[in-house]
Amino acid sequence: MSDRTWSDVDRIVERQLIGEDRDLDAALAANAAAGLPPIAVTPSQGKLLHLLARSIGARSILEIGTLGGYSSIWLARALTDGGRLVTLEADARYAELAESNIERAGLGELVDVRVGKALDTLPQLAAEQPEPFDLVFIDADKTHTPDYFQWALRLTRPGSVIIADNVIRDGALADPDSTDSAVLGSRRLHEMLAGDRSEIGQRVSATTIQTVGAKGYDGFTFALVLGAGEPDGSDR
Ligand code: SAH
Ligand code: DHB
Ligand code: MG
Repeated sequence: MSDRTWSDVDRIVERQLIGEDRDLDAALAANAAAGLPPIAVTPSQGKLLHLLARSIGARSILEIGTLGGYSSIWLARALTDGGRLVTLEADARYAELAESNIERAGLGELVDVRVGKALDTLPQLAAEQPEPFDLVFIDADKTHTPDYFQWALRLTRPGSVIIADNVIRDGALADPDSTDSAVLGSRRLHEMLAGDRSEIGQRVSATTIQTVGAKGYDGFTFALVLGAGEPDGSDR
């Protein structure tokens, strides 16, 4: 099995289950034309995020790492009436492009793109004491994924879902010698979530799913925020 097969399969899924989509396709084209790195979630991943958000009837979503707003559009489209999405992006040029892509998709009213390093904008957001977010998608600089996870916990409630992208990195998560800061971030995330041994591990029930596709071999961590005394659901 090769990257080529993975991409071919993604194309079949895209053709049969997703299809052309004027606003999402326009966003990807605009991102490419502006020279943004081609690192948005794939269409099948975007649709998975969308379906997860819809499955839980999400009314408020927080995204950390906007790029050109491709995943933001998928997520914002899942919001129930009156919902909103806040998305955080360090690069002002990316954020501006995201705003225009989101506007074109007719979602400008629902989405709040905030410019700045997430470790600066998250405390500002928390200070506003927003309603708890139903879903948080963490997809910014991977080094800080564990820190973003802690912020996500502060900004959610029992029943909320926290998803982190790019936690496998070609399997490097299993390479004990890796010095890649993204891999170290993912390792720290998993240690943080390591069950009864950690305070945070007791507050969520989590798993990590390896994925292959047009973006290669990577994966997501998915965590459900637990209520007091609620079981993890696995015999850890
Ligand atoms: N979620 C997007 C892809 C995000 S790529 C999608 O799927 O469409 C990662 C993004 O995180 C990049 O745009 C990068 O500029 C941004 N980023 C990197 N460091 C950041 C930081 N410290 N705070 C906020 N955003 C950051
Ligand atoms: C890369 C991929 C991503 O999904 C992301 O959010 C950031 C970087 C990458 O492949 O470099
Ligand atoms: Mg990503």
